[in-house]
Amino acid sequence: MEWIVKQKNDLKPLYEEEGKIGFGKYYTDYMLKMLYSKNKGWYDAEITEFKDISISPAALVLHYGQEIFEGMKGFLGNDGKIRLFRPMENMNRLNRSASRLMMPEIDGEFVLEGLKKLLLLDKRWFPKNKGNAVYIRPTMIAVEPTVYLKPSDEYLFYIILSPAAGIYGLKELKLYAETEFVRAAIGGTADIKTGGNYASAFYPGKLREKFDALLWLDSQERKYVQEVGTMNIFFVEKGKRLITPKLDGGILPGITRDSIIKIAQHDGYEVEERKITIDEVVDNISKGIFTEAFGTGTAAIVSPVREIFYKDNSYAFSFETDLRNYFYNKLLNIQYGIDEDLFNWVEVIE
Ligand SMILES: Cc1ncc(COP(=O)(O)O)c(C=O)c1O
Repeated sequence: MEWIVKQKNDLKPLYEEEGKIGFGKYYTDYMLKMLYSKNKGWYDAEITEFKDISISPAALVLHYGQEIFEGMKGFLGNDGKIRLFRPMENMNRLNRSASRLMMPEIDGEFVLEGLKKLLLLDKRWFPKNKGNAVYIRPTMIAVEPTVYLKPSDEYLFYIILSPAAGIYGLKELKLYAETEFVRAAIGGTADIKTGGNYASAFYPGKLREKFDALLWLDSQERKYVQEVGTMNIFFVEKGKRLITPKLDGGILPGITRDSIIKIAQHDGYEVEERKITIDEVVDNISKGIFTEAFGTGTAAIVSPVREIFYKDNSYAFSFETDLRNYFYNKLLNIQYGIDEDLFNWVEVIE
């Protein structure tokens, strides 16, 4: 199979001010898509104009939520070249999500080849400032028209692009440790990227809307820290050691999480991936042992956490140390091609 590219003449007006691009407000001129059927496999791979899609009201995704997605970014370096950051990791995670939900896997290399063509066609949408990027949203939905409860025999896969700033900017976040609701469960879909995990977080988010985000605890005991709605979490012990919840099936294995762990270890910091209770976290904040915390994610980059609210009390980090900015800069400098790509993570698109 090959990518068919259908170029158009009438391009959309670009956003006016890069400083106001926000997150999820603008979409580029083009998108990539391909179809799947049980008999044919993947077919009709094309890069075409960004436009509405048409599916049956009986499409299986609309009833049973057979849907998965990814979140990745393309960066414009100072040399004017587009860079992707560890893109095969996203392809592989998408395939892990696919197999959990009985959806067909994609050929990661082939999709990446199409994505690169798409990014080059939409190059004029790339923001220039460090921290801004083109957010890339691969999505797969079940489109077989049936309300019969079974995995779909037909799928649509597509990628859309949205120029974006970090979701939280440089805000120091206040988190609410959620003791009532849960995001998703171990053994369920907690460690894959599927829409239901996010939809079920809207209601608890609304209840705690004074806070910037929820800090999820484990689904059985509400005892162990898991992650934040859009990012993994790290606690910093006196500027020397990082502690982050281990991949126990209850959190999304973040690619940024893995990158920060590798950068930290390379730079001589100790990293502990382990179970950590919310009681230990607040106790360590109170004693001044945990001096800071930050979240990591493609959309969130490295976002500072200033305070955690837990059972009627608020616990503020002292911020006596500053690894949050250290890792923010380290990560972005690799992604934008400013620092040497020591880990071979960056793919420059020519
Ligand atoms: C629930 C959740 N956890 C963590 C992350 C961070 O993952 P990554 O670093 O791969 O973007 C995300 C964002 O994709 C997420 O949605």
